[in-house]
Amino acid sequence: MKPLSMMLSMLVIGMTSGTVMAQGSNVARATLPNASLPNVSPANSELVNRGAYIARAADCMACHGEDYTGGTAIETPMGDIYSTNITPSKRYGIGDYTEKDLKNALQKGRAPTHMLYPAMPYPSYHGMKDEDIKALFAYLQTVPAVDEAPKQKTDLPFPFNIRALMLGWNFLNVPSTENREGLSPTQQRGEYLVNNLEHCGTCHTPRNSTMGFDKEKYLSGAQLGHWYAPNITPDESSGIGSWSEQDIITYLRTGELDQRAYAGGPMGEAVAHSTQYLTHEDLSAIASYLKAIPAVQTDDKVSAVDVARLPTPINDSITHDLLAQKDYLAQAKAGAGNSSNSPESLYLATCGSCHGINGYGQPDAQYSPIVGLSSIRRDNPDALVNIILHGVVGSTNTSPIMPGFADQLDSEQVASIANYVRVNFGGLTDSDVSAADVERIASAGNEQPFLIKYAGLLAIIGIIVAILLIIFIIRAIMRKRRHP
Ligand code: HEC
Ligand code: HEC
Ligand code: HEC
Repeated sequence: MKPLSMMLSMLVIGMTSGTVMAQGSNVARATLPNASLPNVSPANSELVNRGAYIARAADCMACHGEDYTGGTAIETPMGDIYSTNITPSKRYGIGDYTEKDLKNALQKGRAPTHMLYPAMPYPSYHGMKDEDIKALFAYLQTVPAVDEAPKQKTDLPFPFNIRALMLGWNFLNVPSTENREGLSPTQQRGEYLVNNLEHCGTCHTPRNSTMGFDKEKYLSGAQLGHWYAPNITPDESSGIGSWSEQDIITYLRTGELDQRAYAGGPMGEAVAHSTQYLTHEDLSAIASYLKAIPAVQTDDKVSAVDVARLPTPINDSITHDLLAQKDYLAQAKAGAGNSSNSPESLYLATCGSCHGINGYGQPDAQYSPIVGLSSIRRDNPDALVNIILHGVVGSTNTSPIMPGFADQLDSEQVASIANYVRVNFGGLTDSDVSAADVERIASAGNEQPFLIKYAGLLAIIGIIVAILLIIFIIRAIMRKRRHP
C-alpha cells in the first residue's frame, strides 16, 4: 500500500479503535440509533412533530443538510446545482414563504420568484398530500433560522440558465409516476412513500432522453455518477426477487443485510438521513409495495449467493480483534508468495488492512464486511471497479471512509483485485474483468442524454428557425398588402 492510503487507514483505525471492545455484533450499522427522531421534541405540537417525521421520510436533509442551510452540490449533466437555505431566515431562507408557497415549490417546482430545477425532487413530491405539507410547513418554521447564504450558487450554461424552460420540461415529465390499481391499503402507503416522499426512483429509475423517468423501466436500476443504484423490482435474476420483505426492512433500517448487501455511497446516506428513522409500519409498507410492482429484467444479472463457496471467518474473535488480525495479515502476506503482483498479495496489501484477510472486515471499526455483497456478485463489474477506483465517502460524519485507488494501482492491478474479490468473497465460479474493462469504466463519463448534450445547439437552431419563420410571415403579409 502506498504511504497516503496507509496513513489514512492508520488514522481511521486509530480514531475508531476505541470502539473495538464491544463484542458480538456482526452488523456494523446495528449500533445506529434506532428510529428515534433527533428533531422531535415533546415540547412541540403534534403537528410540528408530524412535520419532523415527514421531513425525515422525504429526506430533505440529504440535500439541504441536517441544519437546512443548503449548499450541497447536486451533480447533473448540465453542471452542478446547489441546494438552497430553507431555514426560516427572512433574508436567505424561506422565512417569507406561506404554506401555499411551500406547496407550489414542492408540488410544482415553483418558488415565489423563479422556477426550480428538478434537482429538487418536485416531480416526486408532486403527489405529496396537503396534510403532510401543512405539517412540514409548521415544522420548518420551528427550525433555527440561519442568516447565511450557501457558499456556492447555481450557474448553469445557456440555455439551462433560462429557468422558464422548466415549464416545458415539467409538461413532459411531471408527475414522474402514476398510481397503480389493485393495491392493498398497506401497499398504497408503500407506494406513497416510495414514489412521493422517499423519491426512491430519482436514483433507481433510469432516465429517458429528456432526463425524465423512463416509466417502462420503473425502479430497474440507473447509473449515478460513479455509483450504480441497482434494480429493486422483484425480478429474480437482476432485481431483489430473492429478498424477503423482512430483508428489505432490515436493509432500510440498518444499511446492511448480512452476507448479501450493503448500503454504501448515496444509499448509505438515504439510510443514515431517512429510512433508519421510519416506523416499522412504514418500512413494512415499502417492502410490501416493492414486492407488488412489476418485475423488470435487465442485463445486469446478479448471481444468487452460493454460501458453500464463501469463506468462513477465521474465528469470531479475529473479526473483532484488530491486533490479532494484524498478525494474521502479516502471516498471510508472507504466505501469499514472493510475487507482490499476485491477486492475493495485491488484495492483502491494498484492502486487507480494512476488510480483513477473508473479507469479513472489522465491523466494530465500521470497516464493512464485503463477503457475499450484491455489489461484488453482479455480472456487471462496474460498481465494484468504481468503488476500487474512487472509494466510498462515509455516509455519516462518524463513519470511516474508503480511499480510492485510481492513482495508485494500474488497470491490470485493479482488474486483478476485482477478480480476486468476486471469486473469493462473492462466491462466483469465475470472473474475467480485464484491464481494458477497467479503462472503459474509468473513462466512462456520465453519458449525457441526447437532448441535454445538444440543447445549446438545438436552442440556437430553434432561435434561427423562429427568426426565419417571422421573416416568412412578414414577407407574406407584405406581399398580400401589395396585391390585395
Ligand atoms: C435531491 C435533493 C433535494 C431534496 C431531497 C430536497 N431538495 Fe429542496 N432543493 C434542492 C435544490 C438543488 C434546490 C435549488 C433548486 C434550484 O436552484 O432551482 C432546492 C430548493 C428548494 C426550495 C426553494 C427555495 C427557494 O429558493 O425559494 C424549497 C422551498 C425546498 N427546496 C424545500 C425542500 C423540502 C421541504 C424538502 C423535503 C421535503 C426538500 N426541499 C428536499 C434539492 C433538494
Ligand atoms: C440518493 C440515491 C438513492 C436513493 C434516494 C435510494 N437509493 Fe437505494 N441504492 C442506491 C445505491 C447507489 C445503491 C447501491 C449501494 C451499494 O452498492 O452500496 C442502492 C441500493 C439499494 C438496495 C440494495 C439492492 C441490492 O441489490 O443490493 C435496495 C433494496 C434499495 N437501494 C432500496 C431503496 C429504496 C426502497 C429507496 C427509497 C426508500 C431507495 N433505495 C432510495 C441509491 C439510492
Ligand atoms: C482504509 C480502509 C479501507 C481500505 C484500504 C479499503 N476499504 Fe473498502 N470499504 C471501507 C469502508 C469504511 C467501507 C464502507 C463505507 C461506508 O460506510 O459507506 C468500504 C466498503 C467497501 C465495499 C462495499 C461497497 C458497497 O457499498 O457495496 C467494497 C466492495 C469494498 N469496500 C472493497 C474494497 C476493496 C476491493 C479494497 C482494496 C482495493 C478496499 N475496499 C480497500 C474501507 C476500506
